Amino acid sequence: YPIHKPEQQDWTFAGLFGHYDKGQLQRGMKVYTEVCSACHSMELVSFRTLENLGYSEAQVKAFAANYEVEDGPKADGEMFTRKAVPSDYFPSPFPNKEAAAASNNGAAPPDFSLIAKARGIERGFPQFVFDMFWPYQEGGPDYIHALLTGYQDPPAGVEVAEGTHYNPYFASAAALAMAPPLSDDQVTYDDGAPQTVDQYSKDVSAFLMWAAEPHLEDRKRTGFMVMVFLLIFTGLIYLTKKSVYANKE
Ligand code: HEM
Repeated sequence: YPIHKPEQQDWTFAGLFGHYDKGQLQRGMKVYTEVCSACHSMELVSFRTLENLGYSEAQVKAFAANYEVEDGPKADGEMFTRKAVPSDYFPSPFPNKEAAAASNNGAAPPDFSLIAKARGIERGFPQFVFDMFWPYQEGGPDYIHALLTGYQDPPAGVEVAEGTHYNPYFASAAALAMAPPLSDDQVTYDDGAPQTVDQYSKDVSAFLMWAAEPHLEDRKRTGFMVMVFLLIFTGLIYLTKKSVYANKE
């Protein structure tokens, strides 16, 4: 089957001065916690990092307490569970991979910590020449957005396996084990943003980019400063050279 190429979206975090839109990240977190976290964990993302999205310590504490985490076996060998605290990580809703796969038609939902960087899109000529010098980082969120908005009826003559859903954007097959997770008006936004599948998909993709790359803004700022420094330094070196050799033929 032909795999469709995801459309490139306009992300605020793209480009030299890219930055995250905190409002969008908060909406994306809402989509993740209300919808996706029923199946997908984020085992490298701790609750306390949510303070970077603009939440207070008390809010993060209250939020973490909604989750149950395992904390080692008790003397009798049974797992001890307790309410999560800010230093815990977004847990998996399943006890293990096997159970996760068993409840999802044989395919375990992947962990989301790095999913925005683990998936990408291929950019053809001429962009790929450019990509060698300036890697195109936004392919992950482009892909996630395309996947979430890309479910459709299979074309005539295409049979999909029982329990799988046709999606021409899915990178590894014609159909995947995840049913379309989003529908219009499913998550309530309190900032007036449209409650549509398209908007939810953009917001959750931006949130997943933040989860995978929380220091993106610092990294871009440092990169820019380094380039400015190198330019000034080159100028100084040139002037030094001129002055040192001023009396030589
Ligand atoms: C796979 C996103 C909700 C079950 C995936 C993948 C992404 C994703 C990006 C990886 C696709 C790939 O391998 O290229 C999301 C988002 C969700 C969401 C953003 C919330 C809006 C859910 C829910 C369930 C679920 C609620 C369970 C009911 C799965 C499964 C797979 C999967 C089983 C593996 C599919 C396969 O390999 O065939 N999801 N998901 N997802 N998701 Fe979700």
